[in-house]
Amino acid sequence: MRIFRDRTVFDESYRPKKLLVRNEEASALIARYRSRLADMAGFTDVSLIYGSIGRVGIGKTTVAWHVGKSMEEIARASGSVLKYVYLNVFGAPSLHQILSMIADQLDLGVSVRGSSALEALKFIVDYLYRRDTYLLVTLDEFQSLLLSSKISEDDLYTLLRVYEEIPSKDGINRISFLLVANDHRVMAYMRERIPQVESQVSFRLHLKAYSSRELETILRQRAEEGLEAGVWDERLLELISEYFGDDKGGDGSARKAIITLRSAAELAEVQGAHRIEEQHVRRAISESALAYMPLEELRSLSLHELFILLALAEVGMEKGDWSTTGELKEKYDEVCHRFGQSPRAHTQFHSYLRELSTLGLIELRLSSKGMRGRTSLMRLPPEIPLDRMKEVLESLIKEKGEGEWS
Ligand SMILES: Nc1ncnc2c1ncn2[C@@H]1O[C@H](COP(=O)(O)OP(=O)(O)OP(=O)(O)O)[C@@H](O)[C@H]1O
Ligand SMILES: [Mg+2]
Repeated sequence: MRIFRDRTVFDESYRPKKLLVRNEEASALIARYRSRLADMAGFTDVSLIYGSIGRVGIGKTTVAWHVGKSMEEIARASGSVLKYVYLNVFGAPSLHQILSMIADQLDLGVSVRGSSALEALKFIVDYLYRRDTYLLVTLDEFQSLLLSSKISEDDLYTLLRVYEEIPSKDGINRISFLLVANDHRVMAYMRERIPQVESQVSFRLHLKAYSSRELETILRQRAEEGLEAGVWDERLLELISEYFGDDKGGDGSARKAIITLRSAAELAEVQGAHRIEEQHVRRAISESALAYMPLEELRSLSLHELFILLALAEVGMEKGDWSTTGELKEKYDEVCHRFGQSPRAHTQFHSYLRELSTLGLIELRLSSKGMRGRTSLMRLPPEIPLDRMKEVLESLIKEKGEGEWS
């Protein structure tokens, strides 16, 4: 009995032909670019898709890609040519590297390796003019360009306001951008480094984490395309989407939901089962939770750092959301006493916090300005399930304690 009809449907690079969820958001963007395409003023839009802090796998890249590919088709249908170029700029390539990636994807026919960035840009603008071709470029992970010292403000302006630097021969601008960034902080970074571009961003699309209903739709599409009929049923999809749905306390990641469905199917396959059963799904879910437990890092921590994380997990479980330093310190003191240890003083406590935040085990942010000014807020990274984290920490504390207390 076969379980999979097509395994590639579960690959990260697989793009479903139809966007069943987020279709409206994508359509709004498409409408913008489409109207710009018809506009005599030229195709010079800069729009932005961003997510929420700490949330990954929520469809940012997928929506951008869908918009780009749809624009290619729309242009074709109206007798013009538009090319979509997708670039991930994580790791902050230089302006020249970005331009040569664009040139490669456009099949420019000339090498820009030996030329300066401005020359490369001129090649691209000329090419688009000669072929009367429009270009839509996605810079995914855009915040890493803004945070990098390798790329200057001038570089960013040159890229995003090409038409000022190098006007097309016929005066028609042909390059638009669809930027993708992790979260709203990208706006502040832009205001800081490239305020003129920031004020020009015409459309900002904020994507939230997926709800369980949205995940269910996404999973159903994958199941229909990638699994044999009769080996899965709705109940299984529900189980997964309820676990990961943002409304059910999950982190709302389509990526994790899809990977979990794939693992459940693989488990059924290796066990020679005729269909995917609930037990396979449960195994897959618990393995996905384990996979996000940063055990290596946790093992390397000192006892008091473990106490702090345990305290943070407990405050999180009691009140949800972000904790203040005061709340955390109070819980930490309580945890220390529970394990028969005396709490560390403030200075040491704060230096542990910084250390944990550097390791990525604590997320830190400043509260909005309140009556007593700004205070630090913290929480455990949202991909870590708090109850699991608490169990793991308690057992690590006991392990360590046995060493240190005996
Ligand atoms: N609306 C959707 N319909 C179908 N599949 C989706 C949808 N949204 C996300 N996915 C799938 O979920 C996975 C993660 O999505 P995507 O890469 O777009 O998330 P992201 O927000 O860009 O994540 P990251 O923050 O890690 O960059 C991909 O496999 C993608 O195909
Ligand atoms: Mg992405």
